[in-house]
Amino acid sequence: MQKGDQLYAGKAKSIYLTDDPTKLILHFRDDTSAFDGEKVEQLDRKGMVNNRFNAFVMEMLEKDGLSTHFEKILSEDESLVKRLEMIPVECVVRNFAAGSICKRLGLKEGLELNTPIFEFFLKDDARHDPMINEFHIRAFGWAEEREVERMKELTFRVNDVLTRLFRGAGMLLVDFKLEFGRYEGELLLGDEFTPDGCRIWDATTREKLDKDRFRRNLGGVIEAYEEVAHRLGVPSEYS
Ligand code: TMP
Ligand code: ASP
Repeated sequence: MQKGDQLYAGKAKSIYLTDDPTKLILHFRDDTSAFDGEKVEQLDRKGMVNNRFNAFVMEMLEKDGLSTHFEKILSEDESLVKRLEMIPVECVVRNFAAGSICKRLGLKEGLELNTPIFEFFLKDDARHDPMINEFHIRAFGWAEEREVERMKELTFRVNDVLTRLFRGAGMLLVDFKLEFGRYEGELLLGDEFTPDGCRIWDATTREKLDKDRFRRNLGGVIEAYEEVAHRLGVPSEYS
């Protein structure tokens, strides 16, 4: 697989073309961003840790019958993925109240929700990823009706699989964000699943083990990511 030109540089990943027009290389950088790019720092080992973490979760989801863009790990901080036509919305599921929903609705962090809540956000950093609903998606043609239904269905299935996975390793999956894209007429899970895009708490102490450590200057960010990876059994070396 020949690495080509850089296609795009996001806040924490860069994307490269390859000699196969249907495949891209994701490079997980050490850059860590919060508040839509307002706070950015380099954290040692982050690219490597997230690359392995993402590979582990994507492979687990594939085993459970969920189709993702993930193909294989290429190096310590790079993975090969299918090239998707991305849908510009973010799919969030919450099992406990934390983050923006607490501000929006005046909730106490940690409240266990009676049923998971699904929310759509528009992928638009300049506007701080505003919350939208299905009417916006329909009115602006960001996705087709059946794609909206499929994104909800797949996100809830991911929630079921991963809630069980984290529970089994003594952790709570508080909330997470997914992105989807089109590939040969199918909707596949794209982007990444790492502690950068979800909230994970220790089930007993409720210690934060995700990017909130960075957002709130709690320290030990990568140590927490490594702790989560270790508990889940993510291999410490790529193979
Ligand atoms: P929020 O509480 O800020 O709305 O975020 C909910 C979850 O989704 C949290 O785990 C962080 C993740 N998320 C992202 O990773 N990127 C985003 O742009 C958004 C809106 C949420
Ligand atoms: N993912 C967004 C960013 O990197 C928002 C956040 O995590 O606070 O800026």
